[in-house]
Amino acid sequence: MSLTRLCALADLGPDKITRVEVEGRSPVALALADGGAVAFDDTCPHADESLSQGWVEDGRIVCAVHFAEFEIGSGKAHNAPIGCGRLRFYPTEIRDGAVHADLAD
Ligand code: FES
Repeated sequence: MSLTRLCALADLGPDKITRVEVEGRSPVALALADGGAVAFDDTCPHADESLSQGWVEDGRIVCAVHFAEFEIGSGKAHNAPIGCGRLRFYPTEIRDGAVHADLAD
């Protein structure tokens, strides 16, 4: 497992989604959930919009554009437009107060 440092845990806020640019790949988004931090693709699987404009609600990531809801962990879409795929999540670890994720394909 190869971990990439994404940001300080203190930079994340409740119900907020934070976008992080990662060299050589598409941006990653972070949110506080499950007693720690979760990491997922920032790009909505419906229409290439940034999920950092959305929010966390009842264990789901909500897209602010068409309001698709993605289960934290599985990425399964609910209340989503036709053609919306599953959101990809990545394993995370907190080390020295920072959020790291395994972003391997
Ligand atoms: S762009 Fe996210 S639901 Fe349409």
